[in-house]
Amino acid sequence: MLSGKRILLIIGGGIAAYKALELIRLIQKAGGTVTPVLTRAGSEFVTPLSVGALAKSRVHEALFDLTSEAEMGHIELSRSADLLVVAPATADLLAKMAGGRADDLASTLLLATDKRVLVAPAMNVRMWQHPATQRNLDVLRGDGVLFVGPDEGEMACGEYGPGRMAEPAAIVEAIGAALGGGPLTGKHVVVTSGPTHEPIDPVRYIANRSSGAQGAALAAALRDLGAKVTFVTGPAAVPPPASVTVVPVETARDMAAAVAAALPADAAVMAAAVADWRVANSSGQKLKKDGSGKAPALEFAENPDILATVSKGPGRPRLVVGFAAETTDVVAHATAKRERKGCDWIVANDVSPATGIMGGTENAVTLITASGAETWPRMGKDEVARRLAARIAEAIAG
Ligand code: CTP
Repeated sequence: MLSGKRILLIIGGGIAAYKALELIRLIQKAGGTVTPVLTRAGSEFVTPLSVGALAKSRVHEALFDLTSEAEMGHIELSRSADLLVVAPATADLLAKMAGGRADDLASTLLLATDKRVLVAPAMNVRMWQHPATQRNLDVLRGDGVLFVGPDEGEMACGEYGPGRMAEPAAIVEAIGAALGGGPLTGKHVVVTSGPTHEPIDPVRYIANRSSGAQGAALAAALRDLGAKVTFVTGPAAVPPPASVTVVPVETARDMAAAVAAALPADAAVMAAAVADWRVANSSGQKLKKDGSGKAPALEFAENPDILATVSKGPGRPRLVVGFAAETTDVVAHATAKRERKGCDWIVANDVSPATGIMGGTENAVTLITASGAETWPRMGKDEVARRLAARIAEAIAG
C-alpha cells in the first residue's frame, strides 16, 4: 500500500513512543521507508539505537548537527519525504506547530516542509480536553494538518478517556489515505450519525441517548481508508471527525433530506439513532401551563425511514449498511430488520442498560449479512469502526 513512499517520522516524547517502533515496522511491511527524527523528549522514551536499527536509517536528533547539515540540511530533509508523520504528537509539539515555533529539529522540519503532515496525538485526557489544546487543534486543522486518533480508553497514567495514541495499524491506514493510496480512494460514502431532535415547541424536544461516537468513529475510519465521506449528523455529544464533509441536521426529516442530497454514493452507512416519531402537533410557541393542571397531549407522526428509503429507492448505493439497536433477541430482530429495510448488512448491538454500550466507548456487535450472523468480540468503538470500514472496503473497492 505504501510502495516506494518515504515517510519522515517525528517521534515525540510520550509513553506512546514505544508504539512508534511497531509503526516503523508496519510502514516498512507496507512497502514504505522511514527516516526517523527523535525529539529530545522522545529520546527519553525510546533510544536512537532501537529506532535507527528498526528504520535501517540514521536517526536525526539535533538541529545544529553539522554532520547532518553537511549530509542533508533541515530544509531538504523536510522536503525529501512524501509525508511527515508525527507519532506520538504531544500537547507541547502540537502547541509548537500551531504557534509556528522552530526551536528544535522537529518543529523546524514541520515549519519548513512543503508536504502534508499527519499527526497521531497522544497525551493525558485532561491535556487533550484543555481549551488550549483544542484551540491548537482547530488552528492545525485549518492549516490542513491531518489527524489520526487519539483513541479513547485506559491510559498509561491510569485515567480513562480520549488521549491514547491511535494503534500503529490505524496510523498506517491514515498514511495510505493521506498519500491517496487507501482502498477507498475515489469512493464516496454517506454516513449518518447521532440522535435526532424532534421539537415539541421552540425550547423542548424529544431525543435519545445516542452520543454519535460510533458514527463519528466510522466516518473517520472510512476517511482513513481514502473515502470521501459525507457525514450527516444529528446533535451529537462527540465532535465530527476532521477532513469529512459535515452536514449538521436536527430532525429525522432534515436528515432524510440531507441524505437524499448527498447521493449518489458508493456506500451508505446509517449509524444514526433516528427518532421513529416526531411530534405532529408541535407548537410554534413555547407551551405554557394554563393553571388548569391539565398536561398538554402530544400527538405523534411517524418519521420517514431513511435506511429503508435509501435501500429501496432509485440510485441505491452499491452497499447499504444499517444498524440495529436492540434490547432483546438481538440476532433474530436484526435479521428480520435487514429483510424489512432492504439493506445489505445490519450491524446489530445489544443496548440493554446493563451493557453500557449506548453512550459508552465500547461496542459488542453482530454483523448480519446475506450469509448469516457473525458475532465480534466486545471492543472499542474505534476498533469496531476500523473493522467495519475494512469490510466495507472489501465489498466496494475495485
Ligand atoms: N433508521 C433510519 N430512519 C428511521 C429509523 C431508523 O434510517 N426513521 C435506521 C437507523 O439509522 C439504523 C436502522 O434504521 O441504521 C435501525 O434503526 P432502529 O431504530 O433500530 O430500527 P426501527 O426501524 O426503529 O425498528 P424497531 O422499531 O423495530 O426497533
